Formats: sequence, structure tokens, C-alpha cells
Amino acid sequence: MNTQVSPSITVRRQQFDFNKTPLYYMDNNPLLSHLLTALSLTFPHGERFFVHSVRQIREQVKNPVLQRNISSFIGQEAMHSHAHEEFNAFVEQYNVPAKAIMDFEYHSIEEAKQRLTNKQQLAVTCALEHFTAIIAQYILEHPEIFDMLHPEIKPMWIWHALEETEHKAVAFDVYQDVFADDKVRKTTMRIITGTFLFRISHITLKLLLNDPIGRKQWRKNIAGLATLSKVLTDLAPAYFEYYRPDFHPNHYDTTQLTAHWAAQMANA
Ligand SMILES: [Fe+2]
Ligand SMILES: [Fe+2]
Repeated sequence: MNTQVSPSITVRRQQFDFNKTPLYYMDNNPLLSHLLTALSLTFPHGERFFVHSVRQIREQVKNPVLQRNISSFIGQEAMHSHAHEEFNAFVEQYNVPAKAIMDFEYHSIEEAKQRLTNKQQLAVTCALEHFTAIIAQYILEHPEIFDMLHPEIKPMWIWHALEETEHKAVAFDVYQDVFADDKVRKTTMRIITGTFLFRISHITLKLLLNDPIGRKQWRKNIAGLATLSKVLTDLAPAYFEYYRPDFHPNHYDTTQLTAHWAAQMANA
């Protein structure tokens, strides 16, 4: 097992003020803004599920380094859930049906918790953590994406991307330590890829159709779609790494990248 000492997993308590954030906070683009809001709507209950899936088997982990990393992982995800919950409540004023979508997420997850074994639940977390890790790393390496964000919302996404990159290996290390079942890990990723992409696209479309001004901005939305397809194409090789038999999230060393952004955050 490639569990590494991760001194860089720091739990940061953050307060954000979104009060002047516009509805189209990403490049003044309805499609891209609704896509980020769709992600934000899935985070509070989704990240609580990640914590649940790790917590329910953590007593089987004997490695003290990994135990410490688990504590940091839980701390970071708890803060993310809280921040995104506040943001989701904020966008309700723009007629975004945030509560209804979050309630649906909650019930879907509760139902999955009843249906799936502990191993399958953790494999789901590992798959989704791979998605968040590769997306987070991509935007940390392309800060021009952050510059497309409204200044009030930018710090929250930098903070979340940084911490997702810092703790990217924790759920995977727990899975390897307790189960190390490659077949279930890869099969789960195939299923999760479909459900995750479908769910995010579905929520984004729902938000766009529910937005009488944004849905008419065809030129901007097509440009947003072009940006999105470029990002997805760029992410494909990192995504497929997950299917390698020797895959480990730390094979791609992000120590310098996270140190850089941690320093930026501390200075800000
Ligand atoms: Fe998170
Ligand atoms: Fe995470």
C-alpha cells in the first residue's frame, strides 16, 4: 500500500460572503454557472456520504498515518459540505430550486446506503473522489479558469479545489487497506461515471430550463459547451488512469501545486 505521510492535509475554517455574487458568476455564462451550481447542489449530501463510507470502516484501519489522514479528510469534507450548503441557500433567491434538488440527492443517497455493502459504498466514494481530484487538479493547474469566476465566489472554489487535491488519496488508501478489491473498484467506476455525468447534466439542464433569461442566451451557452468539451477532453487521460492495475492517486505528484495554492490562500 502506498499510504504517504500527508502533512499538507490541513483543515481550514473558512467564512465566505456571497451576498453580491450574481447568478451568472462563471464568465457571465449561464450554462457554465449553472453547471458549477449543479455541482454545488450535490456536494453537501454527497460529501457527507463520503465521510460516512470512510467512517463506518475506519476502525479496521490499523495504520496510524492513515488514521490521521482520515481525520483530516473528515474535517475538510465537513467544512466543504457546510460552505456549499450556505451557497446553495443563497442561490434560492435567484429562483434556483436548490432545496428540492438537495432533498432528492439526500433521498437517493439514503436509499443507496441501504442497498450497497460497505465495500461498494467506499468504492463509490473512491470513484467520485477521483473525479473531484482530477477536476480540482486541472483547475489549479489552469488558474485562468479561476479568473473567469466572480471575485466573491472565487475563494470558495480555490479552497475546495486545493483541499480535494490534498486529500485525494485518503479514501483510496482506506479502500486498499481494508478491501483491496480491484474488480469492484473498477466496476464501480464504470457505473459511477454514467450516473455522475448523467446526474450533473440533468441538474444543469434543469437549472437552465428553469432560468427564462439564461436559457435564451444561445451564443453564450454554446461557447460554454465548447469550453466544457475541451476540459472533458483534456481530463480523459487522467480519468482512464483509474483503470490501471497499479493506479494510485499520488502517482501524479501534486505536492508543489498544493503548496503553491496553500501559500496563496494564506496570503489572501
Ligand atoms: Fe470536498
Ligand atoms: Fe473530497
